Amino acid sequence: MLNYTTLTFNNGVTIPQFGLGVFRSEVGEETAQAVQWALEAGYRHIDTAMAYRNEQDVAEGIRRSGVAREEIFITTKCATGDIEKRQALDCFNRSLDNLKTDYVDLYLLHWPVPNYEEAYEVITRLYEEKKIRAIGVSNFQVHHLQNLERLGYLTPAANQIELHPAFQNREVKEYCGEKGIIVEAWSPLGGKDFLLLDHPVLNAIGKKYGKSAAQVIIRWHLQIGNVVIPKSVHQNRIIQNSEVFDFELADEDMAAIRALDTNKRAYWDPERFGTR
Ligand code: A2P
Repeated sequence: MLNYTTLTFNNGVTIPQFGLGVFRSEVGEETAQAVQWALEAGYRHIDTAMAYRNEQDVAEGIRRSGVAREEIFITTKCATGDIEKRQALDCFNRSLDNLKTDYVDLYLLHWPVPNYEEAYEVITRLYEEKKIRAIGVSNFQVHHLQNLERLGYLTPAANQIELHPAFQNREVKEYCGEKGIIVEAWSPLGGKDFLLLDHPVLNAIGKKYGKSAAQVIIRWHLQIGNVVIPKSVHQNRIIQNSEVFDFELADEDMAAIRALDTNKRAYWDPERFGTR
C-alpha cells in the first residue's frame, strides 16, 4: 500500500491527495484496464466525469480489481449540457447507474455554464440526502465562487481547475486557500501537447532525486497542497506516478518550479467555455 497523504474538506470528509484521472482515457478496455492497474498499484481515488463517457469502464476496472467500493474515493462531474438544460438530477442518477454505486464521494459541476446556480442547489439537496459525501465545482473563477457565496450557498469542498507548473492559476488558488476550498489540479502534468515533461529545469531537479520530471511535478502539487490526478493508460507510468511519497523537494527546487509559471492556459478559458 502506498503511503498516501489525505486532505480534509471543509465538511470533515477526507480525500486521498493523489488519484488517477481518466480524461481522454478511451471508452472501453483502455479505461477499465487503467483503473484496474491503478487500484492494483495502491491508488484509492479515481476522477471521472459524465462528459468523459467512461464511467461504466471505471466501474468495470473497480470490479476487476476486487477492491471494495468503500475503500475507493470516486469523483464524477455533472455535464455542462445537463447543467444548462436543468437536468442535473437526471445526470447524477445516470452517473450512479454507470458507476454501479449508490453514492458518489465528490460530485462537481463541470464548468460554470448558464444555470449553474440552480444545478448547485440540486447537488446541495443530494448532499443533504447523503447521496454525495462532498460537493464542489470545477473551472470556477473567483467571481463564480463569490457568486455562490453571495447567494448564501454551501461553500464548495473543492474546485478542480487547470493547474500545472506552466499555468499556476494563482489568483484562483489563493482565493480557494483563503476560503478553505481544496484545489484539485487537472492536467497536472501540463497535458499531452505541452512540453513540461521535457523541460530542462524539471529534468535537472529529477536527477537530484533519482525521479522523472513527471514525478517531480506530481510531488510539487502535493507539497503546495493540491489534489493531483494525473492520467495515464500505461501501467509503468501509472506505477511511476504513484512513487512520489518517498522524497521531498527542497525549498530551492519548489522556488525553481514556481518560477516556471507563464500564466498561460494550455486549455479552455472558463470565461468563454461553451459560448459559440
Ligand atoms: P499516457 O496516458 O499515454 O501515459 P495530464 O494528466 O497533465 O493531462 O497529462 C497526462 C499526459 O501525460 C497523458 O497524455 C499521459 O499519456 C502522459 N503521462 C502520464 N504520466 C506520464 C509519465 N510518468 N511520463 C510520461 N508521460 C506521462
